[in-house]
Amino acid sequence: MTSVLEFQRYKKRSKPISVITCYDYWSAKIIDETSIDAVLVGDSVAMVMHGYDTTVNANLEMMKLHISAVRKGLKNKFLIADMPFLTHRKGLKYLIESVDDVMKCGAQAVKIEGANGHLEAISHVIDSGVPVMGHIGLTPQSVHQLGGFKVQGKNDEQAKHLIDDAKSLEQAGCFAIVLEMVPSDLAKTISELVSIPTIGIGAGQHTDGQVIVLQDMLGMNKDFSPKFLKKYLDGYELIKSAIDCYDKDVKEKLFPTKKESF
Ligand code: KIV
Repeated sequence: MTSVLEFQRYKKRSKPISVITCYDYWSAKIIDETSIDAVLVGDSVAMVMHGYDTTVNANLEMMKLHISAVRKGLKNKFLIADMPFLTHRKGLKYLIESVDDVMKCGAQAVKIEGANGHLEAISHVIDSGVPVMGHIGLTPQSVHQLGGFKVQGKNDEQAKHLIDDAKSLEQAGCFAIVLEMVPSDLAKTISELVSIPTIGIGAGQHTDGQVIVLQDMLGMNKDFSPKFLKKYLDGYELIKSAIDCYDKDVKEKLFPTKKESF
């Protein structure tokens, strides 16, 4: 099983780190048998599994339910969980109680979005013995402040901010940083400037690892095809046609047959 130590080792050896999201028991069982390095129960669960427009609707109860389900199927992988919207803005006591809940559900590290303004909270969690993954660039929990799901750090001032944020997260003791939707050159600069691994999504080729949403790479949402996404399967069509085959079999009395009967 990977740990925070492997994250550091991989960076030193320039070995790319693969991370994938997971929200449920059955896909966790599949991922457990792959060579993926680490798994994230992302708050994107609110959008992908619950149909909300943003991750703002992910709350602690939702996260706990999904983390527990994933942990049951995931025996051999390092599991990181997102701290949901505003958890780290409700005081250190609330934050630590929430982290406690998430860790007891089976997470081994937490991810906290943003840097500026959250550093005390992040340090408090790390000082409490819980590894923290940072997350900068497009931070979806701040989507309403950012004005949409847009590439971040496009001008010099924004780029400098992101570089400063990455350095302060490293300083605070984060074991890795997600860089979401930032120009490739900026992601490269940040990855070279910090000693902890950067894990990119929509951040180009030069980060130390990549993270992807499982359902996105499986092509489960036919209406979601952003530039940064590579679909490895047409899961939508595959599953739809399997369901149609079952429907046809039932209607043509081809299922069940004797073989499936007692
Ligand atoms: O919630 C999530 O899935 C994430 C990844 C996109 C990094 O934060």
